[in-house]
Amino acid sequence: MKNLPPSEMIESCSVAGPGFVNVVLSKNWMAKNIQKMLVDGIETWAPKLRVKKAVVDFSSPNIAKEMHVGHLRSTIIGDSLARMLEFSNVEVLRRNHVGDWGTQFGMLIEYLFEKFPNSEDANETAIGELQEFYRRSKNRFDSDPAFKERAQQAVVRLQSGEPKYHEAWAQICEISRKEFDKVYKRLRVDLEEKGESFYNPYIPGVIDELSKQGLVEDSQGARVIFIEGVNIPLIIVKSDGGFNYASTDLAALWYRLNEEKAEWIIYVTDVGQQLHFDMVFSAAKRAGWLSADDSTYPKASHVGFGLVLGEDGKRLRTRFSEVVRLVDLLDEAKNRSKAVLIERGKDKEWTEEELEQTAEAVGYGAAKYFDLKNNRLTNYTFSFDQMLNDKGNTAVYLLYAHARICSIIRKSGKDIEELKKTGSLVLDHADERALGLHLLHFSEVIEEALTNLLPNVVCEYLYNLSEYFTRFYSNCQVVGSAEETSRLLLCEATATVMRKCFHLLGIVPVYKI
Ligand code: ARG
Repeated sequence: MKNLPPSEMIESCSVAGPGFVNVVLSKNWMAKNIQKMLVDGIETWAPKLRVKKAVVDFSSPNIAKEMHVGHLRSTIIGDSLARMLEFSNVEVLRRNHVGDWGTQFGMLIEYLFEKFPNSEDANETAIGELQEFYRRSKNRFDSDPAFKERAQQAVVRLQSGEPKYHEAWAQICEISRKEFDKVYKRLRVDLEEKGESFYNPYIPGVIDELSKQGLVEDSQGARVIFIEGVNIPLIIVKSDGGFNYASTDLAALWYRLNEEKAEWIIYVTDVGQQLHFDMVFSAAKRAGWLSADDSTYPKASHVGFGLVLGEDGKRLRTRFSEVVRLVDLLDEAKNRSKAVLIERGKDKEWTEEELEQTAEAVGYGAAKYFDLKNNRLTNYTFSFDQMLNDKGNTAVYLLYAHARICSIIRKSGKDIEELKKTGSLVLDHADERALGLHLLHFSEVIEEALTNLLPNVVCEYLYNLSEYFTRFYSNCQVVGSAEETSRLLLCEATATVMRKCFHLLGIVPVYKI
């Protein structure tokens, strides 16, 4: 303790038992730093990372197939991780690795030709639901050998680049894309599509490179890479000479490292794909593409997540279909929030637009938060009632808490921008100090969330922040007290940090309730 250099950070020190030195932070130093953030902006509290460019591969649904709850989880978790990296000044390539290639296109194209001999007739409205289209074409494929034969040839003709087949493929992709975009627009998620097909031209070169390094072996007619500790090899060329999911992922990884110069490549999918990614990463390490040691770059990380369960404890599904349609789920969350607002008379107080926007912010925010607050690896049970509860650890509660802080500041009638410059913040009361200390943790919490790729760490921090605030607000009078200026600044700092947390979780804050 005697050897500690004097520091303005430290108020006092004491020896606490053998081997421990208790350090009490200086309340002046704490107050000064919080006030500095208020003046210079929350960006000055962004963690500083060693990495400059990252790819986040997320959402990534499959063309003509259902975009299910798993894809929703990937979209929400991936977007949040991308936001945290962006906040930390990392350049992020938000990649939608859509499944737009593969043998299923043969039957889809053949079915399209059969249904619409005149290609101009094959538009979105005529085709209707692509999932239904997929089911019908699958039925034809399974029941009619002649159709199956044609579908298999269609794959070959598509892959050899025959224009008629390529156009039909592009048409089908475009319809799916429009459907996906509706979901992204609602969730306000930005994504740039580079689907599986994009990497096709790179596959032969990449396999060549890996072969030259002696990594690729023959196994029962297929070309494979053996991975230490795993008894099945990674198949990269199938026995019929075709490429697969793994060949595409190796080419995509190569492209991201060499063409896009990304240093950290993050993949967000359900835990079921963990082995696939482990094997792809191991192969890339053997090839020297990735650092052998995960604490240095370039590195790749798989962000796995668990299942969403229905209240029956089984995988979430509805009475009508195997999977819950995402848009329906979001609509319901929004409609229920709107109904609550109307019940509370907000339709008479607010404009229709304000009502819509708040219902959306609360409904979609609740859906995102309900997903993000769990450790991503655990399965969770979906429940609208729990998700939209205005008490407890929900977005509804937190958004209301934020709006309440904003209303305290509004009601004081003070110009908060002016106070930031002229007033001063003091942390005398124990509850002021506890709140201040929690605020100062913000930066390291975000860094921890990013290091372990766990958005729930941010949720936990945000929820605790609201708890610290509640304690402060119940024990320290703000408006009309002698400490009014300082306490308004503490309110503003809390609201600022809360808003940044919402932002990092992809939740739109509301300012009044
Ligand atoms: N389309 C895949 C699926 O729905 C997810 C793709 C994840 N990204 C990747 N690079 N493999 O399961």
